[in-house]
Amino acid sequence: MDEVKNSMKKEEQAYKRRFSRYFDELKWLYTELYGNDSMFAELCDNMYRFYGEREQSLKRLDMEREEAPDWYKQNDMLGMMFYIDNFAGDMKGTESKLEYLEKCRVNYIHLMPFLDTVEGHSDGGYAVADFRKVQKRLGTMEDLESLTSRCHKKRISVCMDFVMNHTSEDHEWARRARRGEGEYMSRYFFFDSPQIPQEYEKTVPQVFPTTAPGNFTWLPELGHYVMTTFYPYQWDLNYGNPRVFNEMMYNFLFLVNRGIDIIRIDAVPYIWKELGTKCRNLPKVHTIVRMMRIISEIVCPGVLLLGEVVMEPEKVVPYFGTVERPECHMLYNVTTMATTWHTVATRDVSLLKKQLDIVNNLPKEYVFLNYLRCHDDIGWGLDYETLKSQGMEERAHKEYLNEYFLGHSGGSTSRGELYNYDPVSGDGRFCGTTASMCGIEKAGFEQDEEAMALAIRKDVMLHAYMFMQSGIPMLYGGDEIGQVNDYTYKEDPNKAADSRYIHRGKMKWELAAGIEDEKTVEGQIFRQLGRLEEIRKTQKAFVSYGTVWTIETWEPSVLCIAREFEGEKVIGLFNFSEHDKTAWINEEDGLYRDLISGEKRKAAGIDIPGFGFYYLKRERG
Ligand code: GLC
Repeated sequence: MDEVKNSMKKEEQAYKRRFSRYFDELKWLYTELYGNDSMFAELCDNMYRFYGEREQSLKRLDMEREEAPDWYKQNDMLGMMFYIDNFAGDMKGTESKLEYLEKCRVNYIHLMPFLDTVEGHSDGGYAVADFRKVQKRLGTMEDLESLTSRCHKKRISVCMDFVMNHTSEDHEWARRARRGEGEYMSRYFFFDSPQIPQEYEKTVPQVFPTTAPGNFTWLPELGHYVMTTFYPYQWDLNYGNPRVFNEMMYNFLFLVNRGIDIIRIDAVPYIWKELGTKCRNLPKVHTIVRMMRIISEIVCPGVLLLGEVVMEPEKVVPYFGTVERPECHMLYNVTTMATTWHTVATRDVSLLKKQLDIVNNLPKEYVFLNYLRCHDDIGWGLDYETLKSQGMEERAHKEYLNEYFLGHSGGSTSRGELYNYDPVSGDGRFCGTTASMCGIEKAGFEQDEEAMALAIRKDVMLHAYMFMQSGIPMLYGGDEIGQVNDYTYKEDPNKAADSRYIHRGKMKWELAAGIEDEKTVEGQIFRQLGRLEEIRKTQKAFVSYGTVWTIETWEPSVLCIAREFEGEKVIGLFNFSEHDKTAWINEEDGLYRDLISGEKRKAAGIDIPGFGFYYLKRERG
């Protein structure tokens, strides 16, 4: 009895300590934004309520993580993202596949949107109709709790999307707004004449220029326009209204109390709108994210915020906040991802080297999530200024990249499809799985063994390079067995118009069954990635706060990345060309050991086969 009392007292004290630490700043930010004391008091009361409702086991995890705040920066972190239905049918199915995830050495899973949505109007689940209900076909909130608690027992962290920029038009607020209830209309952006929407359109770019042009949708039954930055059925929330902020924070706390460890803040740059601006990355977005961080530091300090900022580097980094006033814990390394594919298509690493140098020079507190591809398209957000100095014009180069990955030019073996191609601007993004973009689909179809061997090498080399970057690697489920594009989405009228579904195919468990067989494509990829993951987990140089830098190789197709932590140094060499190359490096600090073959050698004048790579570790003494 005394023990229970003691631990409750300890928890109470922990809450008070956190609350008083952050109270002034939270109040100041809230007042600056809303100047509404009673809504602020309501927020504070609810934070305490959600804390009270938080499970003991989660509170313990919070305290553990408060004591070891670098827990997510270790070299064992490996993520995998997947749609629950594609991966294992439903929540329960996912629970039954945890052993497979362990085999993949994954200890962080991102469950793609699973909250209630309307089939056909779901945007892959990013149009949420109820933030407190799981899609029926996937299970229930209890199933989610059971899954997160099983994951925690296996030391697997669970990430989910928090789609805070908009709700589905079927969300209760939207339904009531559509009926003309003023209280609910004020939670969105409504206009009864086209003037203001037209003013917005002058400065606000379009997210889906082809599949959902414009930023407003006319509602004839209400005689109003509503702001819809994404699809017409995704209504933008008005964070100028404190009721929206408070309620969304309660939804956030409700979800983390189900055992979620990592909250991916979807489309975060968009959450604040102002007429006459681009409505992206406005200063008040940062006020909101900082408040969200404070709220989680008080109620659930073990939870991480991952910002989805698909923007150029100078716009991304501010979402980390400052060292004193942090915002997100982690951000996607999106420019590096796009630049990686540019490098594949050009076989020239110079732009990638420059991009990695920018990332590597940022404070080590900043943690990036690295990936080769995700559920979204690849947009060609590259550093065109630098490319211009190399004679490459933006429009022509984007066209080259799309042609290349369509498999039409440049000796390409890639397969995939364009996304939101705009014939007027010539702008278009690209969709495809890693394996298909590396030539595995084409080689398989043509039953060309030699081409397949090369495609597998390319696929594995790209993963090896991704694992070497500064930050945490994230796999897309199915990539670990080289799954290729899935064209069946074209037969589904709810999906046919959105080519992103080409790389969101169902997990092929019949392939996964063959991972032990090294003669199969899936077996080869799985085994080789496994080896790399093993190395990453056992070599301290891979911690996310280690020092990372690039080394000039004097060979345009070969990239060299070095990492060092507590005197342990590993260098990685990656050949982005199908031809054999020599890296003209000369590291004169002793002998190196090839972490894959075990051979000892000098790190100088290294021959690398086409699409080959090396991980070399400096020998001690
Ligand atoms: C994010 C998601 C994307 C979705 C959009 C709108 O960018 O990654 O899939 O379409 O938000 O919610």
